[in-house]
Amino acid sequence: MATRSRSRDDTVPSGGGAAGGETDAGESNGGEAADGPPLQAAAIAVRSAVRLAVSADLDALVALEQAVFATDRMSRQSIRRFLSSPSAVVLVARTQDDLAGAAVLLVRNRSTVARLYSIAVDPRAAGRGVGPALLEAVESSAAARGATRIRLEVHEHNARAIARYHKAGYRQFGRHARYYEDQGDALRFEKMLAPPSDRGVAPVARPLP
Ligand SMILES: CC(C)(COP(=O)(O)OP(=O)(O)OC[C@H]1O[C@@H](n2cnc3c(N)ncnc32)[C@H](O)[C@@H]1OP(=O)(O)O)[C@@H](O)C(=O)NCCC(=O)NCCS
Repeated sequence: MATRSRSRDDTVPSGGGAAGGETDAGESNGGEAADGPPLQAAAIAVRSAVRLAVSADLDALVALEQAVFATDRMSRQSIRRFLSSPSAVVLVARTQDDLAGAAVLLVRNRSTVARLYSIAVDPRAAGRGVGPALLEAVESSAAARGATRIRLEVHEHNARAIARYHKAGYRQFGRHARYYEDQGDALRFEKMLAPPSDRGVAPVARPLP
């Protein structure tokens, strides 16, 4: 399990809205991501399966938190608030039946800097392109909302995440000393975003059917 690497001082944006998707997809993940059967080994089109989270994803998002993070988990209430916050974008990567990963992006009004607040891939889906697919969708969503760059913090010892960010084109630009509860430093990363017109992919704009 990973140590939570997002900022300690983040607060969950409040307020109504549908940034994370208000429609109910009518399907329930039933919280099976942590305890259910292994994710299907069949070839999956993860890239096309990343979509905005909906309220029906809540149980699976909570289960993903519990499966991935050992400390400082987002509470069920926090996740629910992210799902309805106008300044938060919650994305989920699905296989046919399971939640394979999720990401929370914060894009405040009139800010050109978006913040990747959290990203997590179910350990059973590791190495299958879920992280890159989520990051690509995060970046498209941020650009579509007017952001020109994404920033994030990551624990200095989180080698897997740091490797993923480097491979996705993020560059370290700073460091916060003793940022985390264990006194570890936070590495600050950022990536400049191509404008939506140059991205060549449709932004994640609404839940897939
Ligand atoms: C960070 C995370 C989302 C990336 O997921 P992912 O893109 O699917 O990638 P993986 O974890 O499979 O591996 C990332 C890359 O790092 C490499 N890697 C794995 N372990 C590594 C290690 N200990 N040191 C260096 N590189 C490592 C992998 O080989 C992979 O590279 P590749 O795609 O070229 O093979 C995922 O690892 C995760 O959910 N981690 C726990 C939660 C977390 O730390 N989130 C970030 C902070 S909120």
